[in-house]
Amino acid sequence: RYKGDDKSYKTTSKYRDLHIPVQYAVIVDESHPFGLYSAMSFTAIILAAGKGTRMNSALPKPLHRVGGHAMLAWSMDAARLAGAERIVTVLAPGSEDIQDWLDGAPFAIQEDQLGTGNAVASAREAVGNEDGVAIVMFADTPLVSAASLKQLADGVKAGAGIVIAGFRPDDPSGYGRLVEDADGTISRIVEDRECSPAERAIGLCNGGIMAVSRSSLFTWLDRVTNDNAKGEYYLTDIVAIAQADGAAVRHAVIDETEVMGVNDRRDLAVAEAALQARLREAAMEAGVTMIAPETVFLSADAVIERDVIIEPHVVIGAGCHIGEGSIIHAFSHLEGARLGACCVIGPYARLRPGTEAANGVKIGNFVEVKKARLGDGAKASHLTYLGDAEIGAGANVGAGTITCNYDGFGKYRTLIGEGAFIGSNSSLVAPVSIGAGAIIGAGSTITSDVEADSIAVERGETRHKPGGAARFRSLKTKAKQRGT
Ligand code: UD1
Ligand code: MG
Repeated sequence: RYKGDDKSYKTTSKYRDLHIPVQYAVIVDESHPFGLYSAMSFTAIILAAGKGTRMNSALPKPLHRVGGHAMLAWSMDAARLAGAERIVTVLAPGSEDIQDWLDGAPFAIQEDQLGTGNAVASAREAVGNEDGVAIVMFADTPLVSAASLKQLADGVKAGAGIVIAGFRPDDPSGYGRLVEDADGTISRIVEDRECSPAERAIGLCNGGIMAVSRSSLFTWLDRVTNDNAKGEYYLTDIVAIAQADGAAVRHAVIDETEVMGVNDRRDLAVAEAALQARLREAAMEAGVTMIAPETVFLSADAVIERDVIIEPHVVIGAGCHIGEGSIIHAFSHLEGARLGACCVIGPYARLRPGTEAANGVKIGNFVEVKKARLGDGAKASHLTYLGDAEIGAGANVGAGTITCNYDGFGKYRTLIGEGAFIGSNSSLVAPVSIGAGAIIGAGSTITSDVEADSIAVERGETRHKPGGAARFRSLKTKAKQRGT
């Protein structure tokens, strides 16, 4: 590949944009249907140092997205919403992509991947051993809710040494089993490969997430050995150690979808489906009509107001806000678009980041909009590209209009005044400004500013040849008969 010029750099950066998810950002807040505010504070330790081999990807597993956001962002968000005061992510050496993505958020490095217990131990300095609660989470378990984390943390606050997220999957194979005492406390966790036949029959499994008394966590971990089938330091071994110390180990049964782990692309799709089901339900509860909800894809941060109608096969990407009473017709794709009330979008519209529509805006079929603001009641009904543009209220942009915003070097703006009328198939060569109320004749290529209320038309004269069509046909017919 040709290196060292702007173009090769751009190719790389495009590749990066495609694959490195948006920075950790708050996906949901207290007002979001998934939101839950809690004053309880704890430290979250998110394990993300595993190799993720089965993803078969150049992108680290924690940065793969569900609902448009990195799995790690989901874990961090759930922790934050449950009241985490500090979130420490445990990473492997050479994880610069994730470190960049964390953008200053705390992390610890696990030098060698010696097991989940060793991974938590690597966070010792970053976490400390003061009183309080630590919750261990996995970066590949994106669907855990803040409510469940809070439930686990509450159990430790109430006096338990450890509270484990238990679940009862249809097929428990592969998971650690929770061995219960007669009084319902947990005496130990047995990993699948170490289970006796009787233990293998236990249906109650370790979901992987646990809340632990922070002042005991690292002393218990110090006593964990790697004398087991995998030769690893298992986090789960602290359960028997805590029990021997006289600490109570309890569990809370958590919904299976919340603890589902993503190990390969199939799991990723299953997690996406589960999350989409949640998002659609939340939207419908908030008063959104979806004709075929199973065909609509929503980024988790989408804000969709009441009485919006979403037709089948619509994708609402990150950063969208759709105002009350708007309708999104079938096969439209929106990303970073903010729409006011009663807008009509599509079918087959593409709204790219920076689209801002006021109220009652119409963006019709095969219209692409990018970094453009449209005033109240502005219309672009068919086959148009509006990029880097400002379109005044009530303006009408005719079919096939193109804002020519790019000359191969820079991007330039097009301004269209209020109530202007842009005739079909016009090219507006930016930078250019069309005054309020101006009319552009169809087929014009406009290269200079047009005054308000004037008409601008730029096209060749139409030549008329009376009888010409008949003469043309007769010439052609004769030539064909001669075989020439
Ligand atoms: C773990 C639990 C098991 C539980 C299951 C739930 C242990 C020993 N077992 O098994 O009881 O039922 O999760 O899904 O804890 N990681 C590191 N460093 C390491 C090893 C792992 O950071 O050295 C991270 C991984 O990136 C991953 C998480 O820890 O996010 C879990 O590791 P994984 O190997 O998937 O554990 P399981 O065998 O699934
Ligand atoms: Mg796992």
